[in-house]
Amino acid sequence: TGSEALARIESASDLDTVEALRVEFLGKQGSISGLLKTLGKMSPDERKVEGPKIHALRESVNDALAARKDALETAALEARLASETVDLSLPAPETPRGTVHPISQVMDELAEVFADMGFAVATGPEIEDDWHNFTALNMPESHPARAMHDTFYFPDKDDEGHDMLLRTHTSPVQIRSMLEVVKKNPGGAPIRIIAPGRVYRSDSDATHTPMFHQIEGLVIDKGIHLGHLKWTLETFLKAYFERDDIVLRLRPSYFPFTEPSVEVDVGYAVENGRRVVGGSGDAPGHAWMEVLGSGMVNRHVIAAGGLDPDEWQGFAFGTGVDRLAMLKYGMDDLRAFFDGDVRWLSHYGFSA
Ligand code: PHE
Repeated sequence: TGSEALARIESASDLDTVEALRVEFLGKQGSISGLLKTLGKMSPDERKVEGPKIHALRESVNDALAARKDALETAALEARLASETVDLSLPAPETPRGTVHPISQVMDELAEVFADMGFAVATGPEIEDDWHNFTALNMPESHPARAMHDTFYFPDKDDEGHDMLLRTHTSPVQIRSMLEVVKKNPGGAPIRIIAPGRVYRSDSDATHTPMFHQIEGLVIDKGIHLGHLKWTLETFLKAYFERDDIVLRLRPSYFPFTEPSVEVDVGYAVENGRRVVGGSGDAPGHAWMEVLGSGMVNRHVIAAGGLDPDEWQGFAFGTGVDRLAMLKYGMDDLRAFFDGDVRWLSHYGFSA
């Protein structure tokens, strides 16, 4: 009977059962389909009575099947949604995050300080030839100063017959910057650049690593003199160390590529076992520490850069980035910079 059929549909517990019931009632061989076929054998009067009943039955079974199917599908979807719920109020799992390495940060800080003074950043290759690294910097072959740099040489020469090496300082960027400016503009200069980067010397102990970082500075213009150099270094060190009481001491020195050459010391005091830059090195409890090599660019170097040394003058300086980083952030072991030990980095606030 109709109510029996509807009751069975209503209690079908899954979609397969609903489909089986559809076939049983409405399929080609289905019971309701069978009833429809009996209409053809009825008299018109009978058919008038029975026809609407059978059609109504077919209709209600059809509707019941669709409703049951719909209900089962909705229930399945709701169950799935419930099982896949994400609780957004739960704390997120912790993912370790990297931070900028102190050397990179200090190089960025230096670039910013010098950008404020109008210096652009220049770069050069770490694999250099001995012409850029030595010869053009007024250190011809067999010059004794070459021996002061414990140079890593490559076994083969380059196409022009130059010895190849890992640059021992950033000073070759001076030459490359001058040559580049002359190439673009035969009139040449002015130039105002810094060149931060890696340099290499065969040297290793608590205060030396075979790879370390320097920052070079070069200014070429007309009428440049030592006063400009001193102002630039003072302004840079005050901005970098964020202190107004920085005191410099300039000492005569020697570099083949500068003349005169000046070594620069900065006054510091020791506080809680830590060197703190500031004040005169001659003040009580203070001392001097060397931080920079510098000088007026040697005329041979200006000429090697393709410029006329009678027309252009300049100053240059070079300093160790690692040393500047240690001084500002109170680190005491150079080698730790390159160990990649996150505990050391986080001790100095450089790790999340
Ligand atoms: N290149 C020198 C060094 O590595 C530093 C320096 C650069 C000195 C520029 C004078 C001028 O020690």
